[in-house]
Amino acid sequence: MRLYPRRILRSVLMVAMFVFVMLNLHILLTSQPDQLGRANNRLYHGYGHYPDDVHVQFRQETQPIDPHSIEIHSTRKLVIPPVEGFSTSSIKDSIHKNIDVNNVTFIMEEVHRLNKLQHIQNLPKFGLKLDSESTVIVVQVHDRVEYLKILLQSLRKVRNIQNVLLIISHDVYSKELNEVVETVDFCPVMQIFFPDSQQIYFNVFPGTDPRDCPRNMKKDMAIKAKCLNALHPDKYGHYREPKYCQAKHHWIWKLNHVFEKIKVLDGYQGMVLLLEEDYYVTEDVLTILQMLQNIQKRDCKDCQMLVIGNYDKVQNYQLNSGKVEKSYWISSKHNMGMVFTRKLWDQIKKCQKEFCYHDDYNWDWTIQHLSMKCIPGRIQCLRLKATRIFHIGECGIHHKGKSCNPGEKIKKTEDLLLKNKNHMFPNILSVVGQSRFKLRDPKANGGWGDVRDQELCLKVFNTTAS
Ligand SMILES: *[C@@H]1O[C@H](CO)[C@@H](O)[C@H](O)[C@H]1NC(C)=O
Ligand SMILES: *[C@@H]1O[C@H](CO)[C@@H](O)[C@H](O)[C@H]1NC(C)=O
Repeated sequence: MRLYPRRILRSVLMVAMFVFVMLNLHILLTSQPDQLGRANNRLYHGYGHYPDDVHVQFRQETQPIDPHSIEIHSTRKLVIPPVEGFSTSSIKDSIHKNIDVNNVTFIMEEVHRLNKLQHIQNLPKFGLKLDSESTVIVVQVHDRVEYLKILLQSLRKVRNIQNVLLIISHDVYSKELNEVVETVDFCPVMQIFFPDSQQIYFNVFPGTDPRDCPRNMKKDMAIKAKCLNALHPDKYGHYREPKYCQAKHHWIWKLNHVFEKIKVLDGYQGMVLLLEEDYYVTEDVLTILQMLQNIQKRDCKDCQMLVIGNYDKVQNYQLNSGKVEKSYWISSKHNMGMVFTRKLWDQIKKCQKEFCYHDDYNWDWTIQHLSMKCIPGRIQCLRLKATRIFHIGECGIHHKGKSCNPGEKIKKTEDLLLKNKNHMFPNILSVVGQSRFKLRDPKANGGWGDVRDQELCLKVFNTTAS
């Protein structure tokens, strides 16, 4: 009988605990992520402080969110919850003015305005959460509207695509491209614009100055003719070709902009996936990337790069879907579907002189040169054996002469993926070995001998230059 009160006490405690747990479960299960965010926000307001590594901003108004108004309390995590009532609405945040694309003054002003504004389309609808587990996708786009549409259609189908920040980096400002980007309704999107483009500087460096030396003019002739860059042919005696130089300029500018200039990515430690306008991605691309990152953390701490695409003609998903290989990074094999974090960017930044003075107009061959000659330990990567990215526009700069029919290539790709539907989203990834490609410092391809290109390239890194 003396135990009786204790038993009551115990029962009461257990009931209280049960109710507490159920209440918590109820809140967890019935709350949408945004409501949770709000609940937390109120809670933290109630206690008068935010946790150190989380900043929550929320608004009720239907105004667009200005990224500049976001205060980032720490470099580790950024959270902008969605705005309620937007999820089903079709409100478009159009920021594009109706501009005359033949007026380069106007384009230049617009490009600078947009790069500074850093508007994120669809932000109220999806919100934004960026931390070390996140993926930011950066797409370098030139002028092929049809290909960009194809890429975006493939991205639309990717599982968890709503969680990424998609950044479209343009070197051509065009109404058609802007319209295509405005149709993106499946994730937050930001457009950035390479400011030193040939579109803007069409008759002066970095575009084609009529006073420039023709590519094939001999140096002594060029000096006699007093053309502008007479003293600076490349190592093969050729003068610069602007359209080939632009891709490398754009590539390095874009990385610098993403890692150094975009406010919401200040201190961002997560992954950045690089794509191009004529790629096609599989539905499991983000899922597999997350798994690959986990493997990297566990099995290859020295790997600074993940590679999820390859050009192998035969893809065996049944056999290779979950297989991963360790390798040193090789430009010609590993330049599609590259993924890395700020860590590798910091290495590239330290090697900026090697990058900008190396006489090769290809950014990827230049990176391999850095890997061999400048980056400590070389760039090691983990690569998927079965590609998650397809190169639809194979007749780009590097595949001259091949017939290019995107329809045919897409059909082939989609057939292949449909046939292998059951092998996508593998349950586990495993490292199956080390590839044994011979490593070498590739011979420079030239095309980058002009001091103006080298200086413009270095200017990207110069924090005091405009
Ligand atoms: C081009 O755009 C600039 C800047 O907006 C404007 O001042 C100028 O009048 C425009 N020029 C023409 C020819 O429309
Ligand atoms: C950076 O740019 C400024 C202004 O154009 C220039 O004076 C300076 O020499 C540059 N710094 C480097 C390291 O090139």
